[in-house]
Amino acid sequence: MAKLVKITFQPMGKTVEVDLDTMPYKEHGLPASFLDVALNHGLHLEHACGGNCACTTCHVWVHQGQELLSEARDDELDRLDMAADLQLNSRLGCQAVIERPGEIVVEIPAWNRNYVSEGGESVMASPAVGGAGTTKKEE
Ligand code: FES
Repeated sequence: MAKLVKITFQPMGKTVEVDLDTMPYKEHGLPASFLDVALNHGLHLEHACGGNCACTTCHVWVHQGQELLSEARDDELDRLDMAADLQLNSRLGCQAVIERPGEIVVEIPAWNRNYVSEGGESVMASPAVGGAGTTKKEE
C-alpha cells in the first residue's frame, strides 16, 4: 500500500506529493528526510555538510505535520542548539525523516534561503550579503 505524503515548502509555496515506499534515495541526508524529498523534486535545500548532521544549513521550521516525523535524535538536537533562529518546531532537514502519511508544511528560514542559487548549486554567501532584499525570488 502506498505511503503518500503531501509536503509544502514555504515560502516558495511549492507542494510535492511523494510515495515514501517508492521514492528513490538521493544519497544526501537520511532516506525520506526533507532533504531527500527536496533533492528528489529539484528543490534547493542547502546542505553544506552533505546531510551528515554536521552543520545547520538545512535548518527548517515544521509548521504542520510534526507528528508524521521521526523523533529528533540527540545528535540532531545538539546540532540544532547551534542553529540561528531556533524555534520549538525547528528540525534539521537532513535528519527529520517523514515516517507516516499525511500533510506537512515546512518553511526554509530566510537566512537559509539567502544561500539559494539557481541550478541547485551551493553558494555560500558572505555575511555581508543576506540583509533584507537579497533573497532571490523565483520567477
Ligand atoms: Fe548539514 Fe543537515 S546538511 S546538518
